[in-house]
Amino acid sequence: MIRVCNLYKEFKSGIINKNIVKAVDDVSFEIKEGKTLGLVGESGCGKSTLSRLILRLIESDGGKIYFNERDISNYDFSQMRDLRKEMQIIFQHPDSALSPKKTIYGSLVEPLKIHKLYEKNKAREYISEYLSFVGLSEEILNRYPHQVSGGQIQRVALARVLLLNPKFIILDEPTSMLDVSVQAQVIQVLKKAQKQFNITYLFISHDIDLVKEVSDEVAVMLDGKIVETIEAKELYKSAKHAYTKELIENFNNF
Ligand SMILES: Nc1ncnc2c1ncn2[C@@H]1O[C@H](COP(=O)(O)OP(=O)(O)O)[C@@H](O)[C@H]1O
Ligand SMILES: [Mg+2]
Repeated sequence: MIRVCNLYKEFKSGIINKNIVKAVDDVSFEIKEGKTLGLVGESGCGKSTLSRLILRLIESDGGKIYFNERDISNYDFSQMRDLRKEMQIIFQHPDSALSPKKTIYGSLVEPLKIHKLYEKNKAREYISEYLSFVGLSEEILNRYPHQVSGGQIQRVALARVLLLNPKFIILDEPTSMLDVSVQAQVIQVLKKAQKQFNITYLFISHDIDLVKEVSDEVAVMLDGKIVETIEAKELYKSAKHAYTKELIENFNNF
């Protein structure tokens, strides 16, 4: 479904001493249809930069991105616009997912309009079906984001993405702002959606145990590089890299 080869992105930081930060440094991996690759690493290691590169929200400085065997590395804006429906992202911050000035209904109807899927007589029913799928009731539609909880917002964000029938979703720390019990509920909904719609996930988190739980394979990222990729089931047994072992140990001591 998705394959990246030798992806590279650098940022220049500093005004006087121009340092180069290799935010994503020669990263390669692939994710098979319907599977989840977990990406784990501490803050600043390059996880979000990698997701922006894959979705072509920022330009890379090298490497290739294949989506369904199509090389999308050099797709222009209009080619990407057609693909946007199929490749979606859910971000960490519940409040950045939805416009504070729009009702939940307004936020859910917007992508339908953008992607020309909007039919006046059917939109409300269509939206309600997806809302119910993520475990929310229609009551929420007339509220504004500040009137609903963080867990509900992430469910709305998921419904908003699901109603476009995407094939691939990047989940960039989707639950890290939520309480543990709410986090577990959102994870259950994500798993249910994957099963129902055969969606491929890139699941990003700094929490190695969570990544292990939701993923088929786990890629460990350190300073822009993927240092090892392991079957999720084998993670604790087969970790070879010192950094992976450190993440596991820190988690177990927590
Ligand atoms: N737009 C940017 N300009 C300059 N540096 C950036 C920018 N975006 C990210 N970085 C740097 O790239 C590195 C990786 O950041 P990021 O991808 O956000 O990491 P993560 O998501 O793993 O926390 C960090 O050192 C960060 O400061
Ligand atoms: Mg990030």
